[in-house]
Amino acid sequence: MDRRIQPAKNISGGLRLPGDKSISHRYAMLGAIAEGETVIRNYSTGADCASTLRCLQQLGVEIYRKQVKPEIGEPFEQLHIRGRGLRGLEPSRETLDAGNSGSTIRMLSGLLAGHSFDTSITGDESLQRRPMKRVMEPLSQMGARFEARDGNYPPLRIHGTKLSGIHYELPVPSAQVKSSVLLAGLLADGETTVVEPVQTRDHTEIALQQFGADITRRRRSATVRGGRALKARGLTVPGDLSSAAFFICAALLFPSSDLYLHDVGLNPTRTALLDFLCGMGASVKLLNLAEESGELIGDIHVSGGKLTGGRIEGEMVAGLIDEIPILAVLGTQTEQGLSIRDATELRVKETDRIATVADNLLRMGVSVEVRPDGLDIPGQQHLLGAELDSFGDHRIAMAFTIAALAATTESLLHHSDAAIISFPDFFDRLGHITEL
Ligand code: S3P
Repeated sequence: MDRRIQPAKNISGGLRLPGDKSISHRYAMLGAIAEGETVIRNYSTGADCASTLRCLQQLGVEIYRKQVKPEIGEPFEQLHIRGRGLRGLEPSRETLDAGNSGSTIRMLSGLLAGHSFDTSITGDESLQRRPMKRVMEPLSQMGARFEARDGNYPPLRIHGTKLSGIHYELPVPSAQVKSSVLLAGLLADGETTVVEPVQTRDHTEIALQQFGADITRRRRSATVRGGRALKARGLTVPGDLSSAAFFICAALLFPSSDLYLHDVGLNPTRTALLDFLCGMGASVKLLNLAEESGELIGDIHVSGGKLTGGRIEGEMVAGLIDEIPILAVLGTQTEQGLSIRDATELRVKETDRIATVADNLLRMGVSVEVRPDGLDIPGQQHLLGAELDSFGDHRIAMAFTIAALAATTESLLHHSDAAIISFPDFFDRLGHITEL
């Protein structure tokens, strides 16, 4: 779907974000193998998290939604997942479809590796180009067997079995791979330890504690002992900070912006964006901090203002990986520009995000230098209204919608509907806070 986007004057107002995508996947998968009924409030509305639910249903998990009408406050929807217990999933005759979701295919591979039946799983065209060796490698060491296209790409055939615990050092920082191995570890004999080169988001470790798993955490490593039953529970998913990132950066593009975002997940392994923006001189304040199901949440207040510019490299990259497309857009409006290095992982996301960011910036008349592992984006550039393309990537769709708000004239965005992958209401919510 094509969408016309008019330049804006200002971003102001307040809103709540839909549930965090990363956390939603984890709650659904852990709920599926827990004992009893897990009830989730504010489950992500994105298509990726719906893919996880569909796959779980194909594996025999009963899932339903319930409308709750409290005496005070707005009605809301809850997701109910009837857990099947450890190793309780049922074989699926049909191939599972993870859609566009790397989290679904990689994390479910961990669970399925520990079930003694075979499963086929695939995804859309983009997912079929994304590397799976990174999960097949450790899960094979635990005892599972895999078949994959060219030994690396979906469709995958997973031959599950009784697994043995391993000690695994991740070669690439990846929360999806870490989570896949930890989920397999729940079903394995003995202990499974995952060591990370750089700390990545720790939602799986927190969720495992919430579900009563036998887990020990140290700095940059986690150990689970297999075989302990998980206990179903009630959980609320915080607002998605990676979705909030688009609105935060939009506000920073206009000097008189004033934006409040309520009940956003502020887990310290996710807030590198906020630190980076503050380091460039942004006014981003956190208010009303609280804890929700083991996760830190709070409100974010952003005001417009000048940004100096900066450099993203080394250990910083993992914490900012999903935010780099929108930071690249913001970089064009900073005083000194933005340099990005050590970010080859961007090339194996939903699209090659180094290429798709650069392509769209060039269409807007911006000068940008492409490197094998990043980008150099000079600051103080004009963004021209242009014909843009998401290339089917949700974060590129949202990043360049925001770029178009700061452009000189109208833009046209092809495949804008890609935003449904993580944030179906993105355009509606943006409309509520945008002054044209
Ligand atoms: C995610 C981890 C990151 C991130 C993705 C979600 C997760 O991927 O880019 O959007 O939920 O664990 P990698 O693990 O591939 O870095």
